[in-house]
Amino acid sequence: MANNMRYFIGNWKMFGVPKSINILNKINTFVKLDKNHNKRYKVIITPPYTLLESYSNIFKNKRISIGAQNCYHKDNFGSNTGAISPYMVKNLGAKYIIIGHSDNRAEGDNDIILKDKVIFALKNKLKIIFCIGENKRQKLNKLTFTTLRKQLTKVLERKFEENNIIVAYEPIWSIGTGKIPQQSELQKTTKFIKKILKNIFKTKKSPKVLYGGSVDSSSIKQFTELNDIDGFLIGGASKSSKNFIDIIKNYYR
Ligand code: PGA
Repeated sequence: MANNMRYFIGNWKMFGVPKSINILNKINTFVKLDKNHNKRYKVIITPPYTLLESYSNIFKNKRISIGAQNCYHKDNFGSNTGAISPYMVKNLGAKYIIIGHSDNRAEGDNDIILKDKVIFALKNKLKIIFCIGENKRQKLNKLTFTTLRKQLTKVLERKFEENNIIVAYEPIWSIGTGKIPQQSELQKTTKFIKKILKNIFKTKKSPKVLYGGSVDSSSIKQFTELNDIDGFLIGGASKSSKNFIDIIKNYYR
């Protein structure tokens, strides 16, 4: 994969029914017709569990890859009502999985649980999109770097291998609020995250680091100069094909 390959990942959260496939079809057509796509970027969409199997089948040999938004922290089968294991996710055809989204951290996912999720997801050959980010209070108390360092080092390990991990930096105060970090701040934070990751994996090159939080077709223009950012995790704006396509178009304008 080319060094400057970018990721555009759509996190649908609690959105989508079978007919929402129309959104993916339109995105897929755009990507297919974009002759620069192969060299430049990869599109991943994470629909809810209920759509993983059908969408994974439909997009098997197409331009869009499908991922899950979460999983339970045990593997295989178990007596855990309502839970979906990494093994079950893998068997539905998903290739990627988001782990550590702030929505799930807020519901009780701590570092120990998250580490188990990563271990079992990797065992099932899923690629990890690992989310980290400080909340508003931590930011105001200048605890951003301390928080991020802890979130990374408590969960990630060298043996997970850098090629299996994508990190998404999502400041919690930025998710769904329309607020975006200042460019210089974001540049510093991305560099810091990459430094920690190189340390964890003992590599010269860091795993990919994405930004997430209020990315849409207009805010994306602020990111085009920030070369250290390897892509974007997009929530709200990924639920419309037009918005999602415009994000890609405006990024490469
Ligand atoms: P947002 O969400 O783009 O709607 O801010 C991002 C996310 O939660 O991953």
